[in-house]
Amino acid sequence: MEQDSTIILGTSDADIERAAVILRHGGLVAFATETVYGLGGDARNGDAVARIYEAKGRPSFNPLIAHVASVEMAKSLVEWNLWADRLASAFWPGPLTLVLPLRDNHGVSSLVTAGLSTLAVRLPANEIARTLLERFGGPIAAPSANPSGRISPTTAGHVFSGLQGRIPAILDAGPCAVGLESTIMGLANEVPTLLRPGGLPIEAIEAALGQPLASRSETDLLSAPGQLLSHYAPNASVRLNATTCFDNEKMLGFGNINGDLNLSKSGDLREAAANLFEFLHQLDATGKPIAIAPIPTAGLGVAINDRLHRAAAPR
Ligand code: TXA
Ligand code: MG
Repeated sequence: MEQDSTIILGTSDADIERAAVILRHGGLVAFATETVYGLGGDARNGDAVARIYEAKGRPSFNPLIAHVASVEMAKSLVEWNLWADRLASAFWPGPLTLVLPLRDNHGVSSLVTAGLSTLAVRLPANEIARTLLERFGGPIAAPSANPSGRISPTTAGHVFSGLQGRIPAILDAGPCAVGLESTIMGLANEVPTLLRPGGLPIEAIEAALGQPLASRSETDLLSAPGQLLSHYAPNASVRLNATTCFDNEKMLGFGNINGDLNLSKSGDLREAAANLFEFLHQLDATGKPIAIAPIPTAGLGVAINDRLHRAAAPR
């Protein structure tokens, strides 16, 4: 789908209203959330959702997250339960997505769920995203605003370079604070299950639930379609757990392994998460293979390592 041009909107009232009008007419708007930029369309409008898949070049079996303005809006779409209550009151608004059974008369296009009987819902924390959701007044389907399989965008500039000419507008609200996609929890079965590690550490979820999480199994993999192994991929090859760098490589450091860019010199995983996609974009632009220092696997390190393994996976 070719657009004449992609306009960049700011965060003024008038610009947010313009974005809401585009959405009401079935158009697409990329917008900042606290995790990554999302490519939004009206979740109840099949044409709008089809445009999202088209703009991203995304395989149509990969279901989307419905972003909501409030817990009430989420409850109008899915069968709420006690797990959802506990996690939403602890972490919403925030970087957590809940997968729950669809309700009758939910009104969401089956292209959002890719035909599943469950729906992923999320109440984002970013203030501009929340204002847009309130103005729009309905659920916004939004995958990350990158061409399918490429590095996720954490600035409006990343979105522009990936999707310019393919979408009408980008709402620029600055860089994303968290920098990693939301943690996805499956709550449609007896036990809460982690479907994707992300911007909310697993340890925080376990503390709120008062129990350890069942680990991800083959069955869960099938119930979270679209978790393709090669994903978040730079153009160049990626080498993990590198402590030194070959002559032809660029190095992404962490802690006292320095590199060309360092995710966090002090070894802070929160800082590393916020820098991850921006630094991958920068190193990717050099066209050289990328060597990446080891990252610890606790807290946000679980999601960082998940993204890095996908970036390094055979294409
Ligand atoms: O932080 C985020 O979650 C960002 C921002 C924009 O909100 N969005 C995002 O969306 O990462 P996306 O489309 O790149 O990833 C959504 C993932 C998909 O990989 C899919 O597997 C999973 O959510 N998903 C969506 N609906 C599902 C469902 N009904 N059951 C299981 N998994 C689902
Ligand atoms: Mg994505």
